[in-house]
Amino acid sequence: MDKINFFPDNLDVQNQKIILRLDLNVPIIEKRITDDTRIRLCLPFIKRLVEKKAKIIIVSHLGRPKGDKDPNLSLIPIYKYLKRKLETNVYFFTGNFDNELKNKFFHFRSGEVILVENIRYFKEEMENDENFSKKLASIGDIYINDAFSCSHRKQSSVHKITKFIDKRYAGPLLKKEIEAINLVIKEKKSPVTCIIGGSKISTKINVISSLIEKINNLIIVGAMANNFFVYKNLMVGKSLIESNTKEIIRKIYDKARKYNCNILIPEDCVVGTGFEGKGKNKNLDQIQHNEIILDIGSNTVKKIKKIINQSNTVLWNGPAGYFENKNFIKGTLSIAECISKNTNEKSLISVLGGGDTLAAIKNCKNKLYFTHLSTAGGAFLEYLEGKDLPGLSVLK
Ligand code: 3PG
Repeated sequence: MDKINFFPDNLDVQNQKIILRLDLNVPIIEKRITDDTRIRLCLPFIKRLVEKKAKIIIVSHLGRPKGDKDPNLSLIPIYKYLKRKLETNVYFFTGNFDNELKNKFFHFRSGEVILVENIRYFKEEMENDENFSKKLASIGDIYINDAFSCSHRKQSSVHKITKFIDKRYAGPLLKKEIEAINLVIKEKKSPVTCIIGGSKISTKINVISSLIEKINNLIIVGAMANNFFVYKNLMVGKSLIESNTKEIIRKIYDKARKYNCNILIPEDCVVGTGFEGKGKNKNLDQIQHNEIILDIGSNTVKKIKKIINQSNTVLWNGPAGYFENKNFIKGTLSIAECISKNTNEKSLISVLGGGDTLAAIKNCKNKLYFTHLSTAGGAFLEYLEGKDLPGLSVLK
């Protein structure tokens, strides 16, 4: 396999314009960053480039703007955060990507930083547009992708840009992520358990299907499990479900039988009548038409813990419930604490991934131990699946 071209720490970058693709896609509520983990992790490398007197142009997306410049998805809060944390001049670029683009980046000095406004405000980014990528590349001398979590996207600032810039590297965070995940893939010991949460089964179907061949237990939690309840003709009230998933789920069960993979879905849950307020523990056959499933129940937590205690490797992506409301976070934190205890005391190999999973377990009062915490969600799963991620293959 070709090797990824990592950024050499001794490279002289003084006066060089570096386009640094980061993943600053953090949760923001009413212009306030509610979890800064992803930005915090990027700071040491930005600071190192500042010390090396490079000219740093940071490119990131935030959320998924639908073709327009949604002000709720502006990087302004992140710009303010960077200004506070970096001891240098930080500028914010909100201009257009026209033919004058290169000139607009002409006047900033070594050791300074420019943050470009949400790159997904431009539909050409998502289209991996050739012209747009060329313009973007024209503002830098060097390109560094330090956003493993975006590397599964075939988008301009991750993929096509590399066609127009010769000096291109993967950054240190990306390196750390793939080295850690590679190690786990290589050293994983049976029984292997994979816990998948989140809401959309259709976005995770490929990874689930391919993991079934390699693991012993698959545990489905979060809103994704609701589709399994529907498959089993259980009533889910007003819970979030996805349409047309019966066939997908039938195939998952067929494949699991073939590869001897045990599938566990929740047997009880915590329900509420809205996303705010408190919940009640209920069995699956007691859910009323006005109720929403918002967490896994206490019996399910016991079963999951038993499986984790018997496992030697655990991979986890996606919270077990609506963790944004503390009344529905118990399932997620119980899973986190059990994995952590086994990692610390019984050398369980554990890898966690996904922005939501990280944001949820931050609420845990105790110190947690894991073999590796990945900031990536989709990219982490696709990498585990064994896919060649588009953003990585162009750095080889
Ligand atoms: C993530 O949150 O996983 C990354 O920022 C990628 O975001 P995306 O799924 O919107 O491409």
